[in-house]
Amino acid sequence: MRSFLGRDILSLKGFERAEFEHVFEVCDELAPIARNRQNAGLLAEKTLLTAFYQPSTRTRLATEAAMHRLGGHVLGFSDAKMTRAGDFYQESIKDTVHMLEYYGDVIAMRHFEQGAPAEAAKWASVPVINCGDGWGEHPTQVLTDLYTTKKELGTLDGLTFLLVGDMRMRTMHSILYAMSQFDLEAYVVGPPEMSLLPEFKSELDELNVRYTEAPSVAEVIADSDVIYMEPVVQPDYTKSRDERGEAVGTTPDAYRVTRELLRDQARPGSIVLHSLPRMDELPEDVDATRHARYWSEAFNGVVMRMALLALVLGAME
Ligand code: CP
Repeated sequence: MRSFLGRDILSLKGFERAEFEHVFEVCDELAPIARNRQNAGLLAEKTLLTAFYQPSTRTRLATEAAMHRLGGHVLGFSDAKMTRAGDFYQESIKDTVHMLEYYGDVIAMRHFEQGAPAEAAKWASVPVINCGDGWGEHPTQVLTDLYTTKKELGTLDGLTFLLVGDMRMRTMHSILYAMSQFDLEAYVVGPPEMSLLPEFKSELDELNVRYTEAPSVAEVIADSDVIYMEPVVQPDYTKSRDERGEAVGTTPDAYRVTRELLRDQARPGSIVLHSLPRMDELPEDVDATRHARYWSEAFNGVVMRMALLALVLGAME
């Protein structure tokens, strides 16, 4: 297994099974700190820099909370418009990162351009963590999803995932790459205009990822252990900001998971994960069912970022 010390976390493509398992073990070790609402001193001498060029509630704050839980320092920006990258100068990633690397010991970056965190990693002498890049990938979210699945169902082998939503979405890319390392298979359900792109399908074929495209949630929910959701009504992730216009569409029934569908057709032990925020694809009355696990993910999301920060900064091996 490659060392995590000083490593960039940019993609789950190439992330090996032993590495997933090691990250999950470190999560288990650090989880009591978060569960007891303590702030430990593991990273007391380190500083996290958050560079968020796109809005975020969960990813930025969970990463910052993780750093606080480990006793570290945090600084950064959550709106690039307040930096020189977002005004007249349109400062490049290269020039920006050459500054940021002196302000912090690890950079957590979200960007509307696919590949921006990888570009940053080329120029930064400190580790860069991809917190979502355009339609590209969202590795810390999917590590959280997989850790949650392991905690809730006890295994990551022998399960069937139902992936529903916009298949161009960064989480869908990361989770399908991750599936190559486990005995998992997936049903993939999304509108035809949001289906997996041919070049991505070729990559999945090269990795022997097992998936079947299906027309609707209703057709495959009875055969699924993990229902993994993203909206189909969502913003353009290649924009720095995409505010809601007057009219937004509603989600066709084929891509919704309702309380009634779960009651009548889902496996009793199946779980629903959603990276959030949601639109109407996941009605709020699902929250009270035994299937909902997206709130446990909020806790696990902090623990996962604690593990990643501790590993790349060398506080855990
Ligand atoms: N899950 C997720 O990426 O949420 P945020 O956009 O709020 O960070």
